[in-house]
Amino acid sequence: MNVLFATSEIAPWVKTGGLGDVAGALPAALRALGLDVRVLVPAYPAMLRNFPGAIEVARPHWLGGLLPTPTLRQAVAPDGTPLLLLDYPPYFNRPGNPYLGPEGRDWLDNHLRFGLLSRVAAWLGSEASTLDWQPDIVHCHDWQTGLAAAYLRYLPGQRTKSLFTVHNLAFKGLFDHASLFELGLPDAAWSMDGVEYYGYLSFLKAGLQHADAITTVSPAYAREIQTDAEGMGMADLLRHRAGQLSGILNGIDTAVWNPATDPHLVRGYNARQLPAKAANKAELRAQLGLEPCHDRPLLAVVSRLTEQKGLDLLLEIAPQLLELPAQLVVLGSGSHELEQGFVALAKKHKGQCAVRIGFDEALAHRIEAGADIFVMPSRFEPCGLNQLYSLRYGTPPVVRATGGLADTVIDAADESHGNGFVFGPATTGALLQALQRATTAWHNPPRWRRLQTQGMARDSSWAAAARQYADLYRRLSARIPSSARGHEDKSHLGIPSSARGHEDISHLGIPSSARGHEDI
Ligand code: ADP
Ligand code: GLC
Repeated sequence: MNVLFATSEIAPWVKTGGLGDVAGALPAALRALGLDVRVLVPAYPAMLRNFPGAIEVARPHWLGGLLPTPTLRQAVAPDGTPLLLLDYPPYFNRPGNPYLGPEGRDWLDNHLRFGLLSRVAAWLGSEASTLDWQPDIVHCHDWQTGLAAAYLRYLPGQRTKSLFTVHNLAFKGLFDHASLFELGLPDAAWSMDGVEYYGYLSFLKAGLQHADAITTVSPAYAREIQTDAEGMGMADLLRHRAGQLSGILNGIDTAVWNPATDPHLVRGYNARQLPAKAANKAELRAQLGLEPCHDRPLLAVVSRLTEQKGLDLLLEIAPQLLELPAQLVVLGSGSHELEQGFVALAKKHKGQCAVRIGFDEALAHRIEAGADIFVMPSRFEPCGLNQLYSLRYGTPPVVRATGGLADTVIDAADESHGNGFVFGPATTGALLQALQRATTAWHNPPRWRRLQTQGMARDSSWAAAARQYADLYRRLSARIPSSARGHEDKSHLGIPSSARGHEDISHLGIPSSARGHEDI
């Protein structure tokens, strides 16, 4: 079974959030099951720097529309996964974040950049490919590669099956109508059953509409997004595709996130050596300028600072939280208001609250190890990885009951299985109450140790998810192509589409195509 992963991020080299972590770890877990998984990713400067010996293996020509001819270079990741680097310097040789320019706004040509990524993924799955390796499945991730499913659908010739994994439904990858032509898509694609979404072209919708199967990164999120309340304008389509939609819970890279061997920690520990965790707390406090108060727990956040993460709720009640008493550390970046709000909080509560704005992988590890309690009050959370890291690091999380958080965190009320604290409504009152419960439990050491060890015992490795993906790939590749597939009009490939108005969709509150503002 050959599987092509198409992704816009891959840890540890290019990562703005959990998507990078998944693309960096899941392929190796699948390869361990005997699948030949290769990863297509743009040749950002960080990739070329880390793989200077990557050799040219193909030059995909005639991709349609205004798409250029890139070079595909092959390299091998340290875990043995072959990487296909999509090299086209005018698109990808840019510094910093993969999605945003220096002003913090989306690059204006993101449709072409990620259109090219999608188009090349489809090319690799088509008869036109000149590579000596053909995927049975093209596995796309989020809007950035959603268009691959559309290209596979509209391309003539034998087609590979596609799987589209939704890591986050909030990012729709919306571009104007003219991009249909620039991307070499046919007129036929511009319809309600195609890539058109309220007068825009949506890469996300393309994936949801055209992929042979859809997964999300937790079973709960797969159910939630089929409801009008949480479907972010895609619920109808997702309900329509319910038969092809399922949730597979993410794992974590247990080699990278292992408190016993983590090179970022001053002292390694496991569930039987929990007192050693204290050395990491002392070091973290010293590093952040927090007072070494032994009567209060240290609470932590490592996150993109966006509406999704519900951190405005935490900011609002932070003064009450600090009075419990407790200390707080926040590492993150994103919305200007939240950044400013947390910076002001730290200024006002020196010694009790520390805030670091930016993206800092090493500090993220030290926080997971040094903190007592992790906080994730997300409004929605497709899976969430930080609560899984927290569980493994003996740092019980306080989470809202949504998506993957609800699937992985068991409230302490369940004495024999509890590993954290779960609250319902996205309100300051509910959050504060959960934080109070957590800090109270922290003052009861035997109870706290039980929570920690129950969390640390959770198997969060990729093994279970990899088996589920492998099953799904097998089912998909065995499926006989449906006759409905054959009837698209392919004669229009690359020809400009007919005009269609741009409806105002501002009332839908649709966020930009970027994933955040982290500087990588
Ligand atoms: P999302 O993908 O929605 O951002 P996840 O919890 O799935 O949320 O994954 C976030 C990943 O990004 C985790 O690995 C987390 O440690 C990392 N991360 C987020 N913000 C930062 C930051 N400011 N510095 C370092 N790592 C961060
Ligand atoms: C997304 C989601 C997050 C998930 C991650 C990896 O960015 O917001 O919940 O864990 O992707 O799948």
